[in-house]
Amino acid sequence: MISPIVSVSREGRAPGVASLVEALEGGAVLMFPGLDFPFSPFEERFVERPFADGKAKNVNIRGGAAELRGASGSAEEQEALRQLLIRYRRFAEGLIDRYLPAYTGKVALAGTSYRPFDVDRRKLSWRRDDTRLHVDAFPSNPIGEKRILRVFRNINPKGEPRRWRVGEDFGSMAEKFLPRLPGYSPLSARLLAALRVTKARRSEYDHLMLHLHDALKRDMEYQAKAPQADVHFAPGQTWVTFSDLVMHGAMGGQYMLEQTAYLPVAAQVHPEKSPQRILAAKLGRPLQ
Ligand code: SIN
Ligand code: FE
Repeated sequence: MISPIVSVSREGRAPGVASLVEALEGGAVLMFPGLDFPFSPFEERFVERPFADGKAKNVNIRGGAAELRGASGSAEEQEALRQLLIRYRRFAEGLIDRYLPAYTGKVALAGTSYRPFDVDRRKLSWRRDDTRLHVDAFPSNPIGEKRILRVFRNINPKGEPRRWRVGEDFGSMAEKFLPRLPGYSPLSARLLAALRVTKARRSEYDHLMLHLHDALKRDMEYQAKAPQADVHFAPGQTWVTFSDLVMHGAMGGQYMLEQTAYLPVAAQVHPEKSPQRILAAKLGRPLQ
């Protein structure tokens, strides 16, 4: 089954969907066509040219202090960009409170990013090439028993859509790739943490997700032939998905905002729909 795109009205209604949170946990992308997030006249400049130092692919704020990283521009412009990201973080939090109230008080908001570069023009190694279908996994930041929930918004000023591909459901993908993955070594996981290559001990789940991410991106036949659909997100649209569960690739578009949130598996309405539990079920044993 290919991940469905569920269009949600302002009132929180979606045709044929009884519960937004259940659709989301089941692997849908929730798309909100008309939520307001206006820019001030001063802020318009942030979608006229990239305010980025060019060293990283994104500009972001992190933590309580919301320190801005990777930006360019005058001190005044950088402070305005920082305030824009803080406002977007509140917007994403408000969206979760309103449309996914089951998660209120349970999600932890992480990084907020401004992505000002054209997807097409980023010349990256295959591992960092997000045009290839993948699920998100972070090499240095073990996730363990948490889920990655992301809130995206296309802020392109010229009508250009954010173009994505979405792929098949996680379980079908995992069945094809699990047999090819190398076994987990608790010893090397401890070593990576001791050497501070990872910020915490890499669990078996983290190990599997990293290898899945790489195996997927490396497999050009899978990339070309696996079940998939093109999706266009127009400017002004906001979309929410578990990016550790939903196979996706970003094919084009410029200027986007993104908020990452972490949700404990135990806080899900249906924990058994998490990639953690799906992988354990496919292996027939709990993960280490
Ligand atoms: C990704 O998470 O793979 C990238 C999403 C995007 O840039 O649209
Ligand atoms: Fe991704």
